[in-house]
Amino acid sequence: MTTIPRDGKLDSSLSLLREGNHFIPRRCQRLRSDIFQTRLLFEPTLCLHGEAAARLFYDQSRFTREGAAPGMLKKTLFGEGGVQGLDGEAHRIRKQLFMSLMTAANIRELAELATEEWRVAIDAWQRRDQVVFFHAVQEIHLRAACRWADLPLCEAEVVKHCADIAAMIDGAGGGVGWRYWRARRARIRSEAWIGDLVERIRAGRLEVDKERALSRVCWHQDADGQLLDTQTAAVEVLNLIRPTVAIARYVTFAALALHEHPEWRQSLPTDAALLDAFVQEVRRYYSFFPFLAARVRADFTWQGYHFPRGTRVLLDLFGTNRDPRSWREPDTFQGDRFLREAANAYNFIPQGGDEHATHHRCPGEWFTEALIKVAIEQLLTRMRYRVPSQALDIDWSRTPIIPTSRFVIDQVQALP
Ligand code: HEM
Repeated sequence: MTTIPRDGKLDSSLSLLREGNHFIPRRCQRLRSDIFQTRLLFEPTLCLHGEAAARLFYDQSRFTREGAAPGMLKKTLFGEGGVQGLDGEAHRIRKQLFMSLMTAANIRELAELATEEWRVAIDAWQRRDQVVFFHAVQEIHLRAACRWADLPLCEAEVVKHCADIAAMIDGAGGGVGWRYWRARRARIRSEAWIGDLVERIRAGRLEVDKERALSRVCWHQDADGQLLDTQTAAVEVLNLIRPTVAIARYVTFAALALHEHPEWRQSLPTDAALLDAFVQEVRRYYSFFPFLAARVRADFTWQGYHFPRGTRVLLDLFGTNRDPRSWREPDTFQGDRFLREAANAYNFIPQGGDEHATHHRCPGEWFTEALIKVAIEQLLTRMRYRVPSQALDIDWSRTPIIPTSRFVIDQVQALP
């Protein structure tokens, strides 16, 4: 048996908080290993990096998601009882609910709704001195997602709900500081908001389109043949709305990439293959989910290393998306990279890997690609704007990453 290289500290939780995306890849580089052991929150933890490790991580006979995500993430980002923490048959049935919503027609419809919301927003931006692009796009996506799900959104409460959803996403990596507490309160409020809608629909006091997402979650029968309890239903509705709002991060990075690499602006609107490649490079380079967690189901050995039952294992997403064994000059943004380099379900994992229906891979990848494309089209063909001088730097060790200024634009002009 080979000894797993060790990250020397008694407990590395503070280093993880400080280093974020860099925590696993830096240690793998230093220890010259795709695996190392460490202690996080005083619990022994194995960290994995790279394509071969991703293949292992998605082997469901070896890993379980039950009890893997830290409680803090459940109280903020994911919620309790959602699909993320399920295994086996329970996961398959719940995941089917999400997958059945990701039809080509539904993806097209979300893109059309987002395009309408962009038009309204661009029109309003013309009258503003400045627009904080990241915040404004979050609101566009919230409005589009709620219309898509047939989820009633009271105009007076858009800003409040948007701030809460944004807080849940932003609180994911803030330790137990104010970002965490803000996220926790935001989740409680958001689950109460959606939970109330769920109860009114089930009691026949609110009518919504039966084919759309809100109703589908309300009436979904789980593996035990029962409806979800109100809170779990709210968690799953938020599992559709919250990440659609989170796509605003990628859209902001796409706008930043267009600003820093203006050579792509000319050809993107007319070259569909290049647009596909550019969107994938945005998702790879600006990948903002640092790692995933699972637990060892039963003792096993991999490449001579022993994995004891119950051990927490983290898979490095950020570092795997930048592994030089898979990507040439991985730390540079190359808009046409994906026209030349081959991605697979284990080396390109910004939203998880393996198969969507049978594994935990994100069911929202098609939404993500579609909404980034809508945004690029709007930025390049539907508006003129200026990017004034501002702090466009990214603190890569912040979880989740975002440009310091949140990308401010001004002098917006709508184009016909
Ligand atoms: C799972 C990232 C957008 C719904 C995941 C996972 C990641 C991820 C890393 C975990 C994969 C795993 O555990 O193996 C992202 C990012 C997004 C995004 C970075 C874009 C900003 C979306 C969208 C939706 C969505 C738009 C829904 C409309 C979900 C759900 C899961 C998930 C329900 C849990 C799946 C499961 O456990 O089987 N996402 N996601 N995500 N995502 Fe996304």
